Amino acid sequence: MALALAVLILMSLSGASLSDEAHIELPSQKHHCAENKVSHIHFYYHDIRNEENPSIVQIVETPSKVPNGFGSTFVMDDAMTEGPEMGSKHVGRAQGLFGLASLEDLGMFMLTNFAFTEGEFAGSTLSMVGRNPISEQNREMPIVGGTGAFRFATGYAIANSLDSVSTPQHFVVEYNVTVRHS
Ligand SMILES: *[C@@H]1O[C@H](CO)[C@@H](O)[C@H](O)[C@H]1NC(C)=O
Repeated sequence: MALALAVLILMSLSGASLSDEAHIELPSQKHHCAENKVSHIHFYYHDIRNEENPSIVQIVETPSKVPNGFGSTFVMDDAMTEGPEMGSKHVGRAQGLFGLASLEDLGMFMLTNFAFTEGEFAGSTLSMVGRNPISEQNREMPIVGGTGAFRFATGYAIANSLDSVSTPQHFVVEYNVTVRHS
């Protein structure tokens, strides 16, 4: 308001015409830049590996002599929950592809879409692409985009395996996601 008034006063003093400047949007007038938010999202997901109701399925087998399971590839559609128990509130689905992509160690590639179904982010998605060194804790992976509330998203996820409650048939991973979005 004050700026607009100042511009008007300046123009009336100098005799400049409005139309000369109207087609340029100054950075200070791009309101969406100032409205970027940072959200912290905390959830768990559950890899279920069994015969009847698996949420991860291996789609590529690896030859037996290849080290570190290199090449093994899986598809996932995991429940995302508020707490570490499968019975806690479901907040979305973690869907995507992952596989062992490191000859030297247990390093996975992750192509994951987090589809939120509850709360303020219901209907929005976040996409994560990254390297996941599964034998370590505090594994960092980039958030590369999103939809809905998460348009223009950039950020990072920190993943930690919950070894204390996990079994080979039910593996629980905690995610802390920090994301900047419009
Ligand atoms: C993840 O977030 C939870 C809840 O805010 C917090 O208690 C925990 O320390 C965080 N973990 C990491 C690794 O940042």
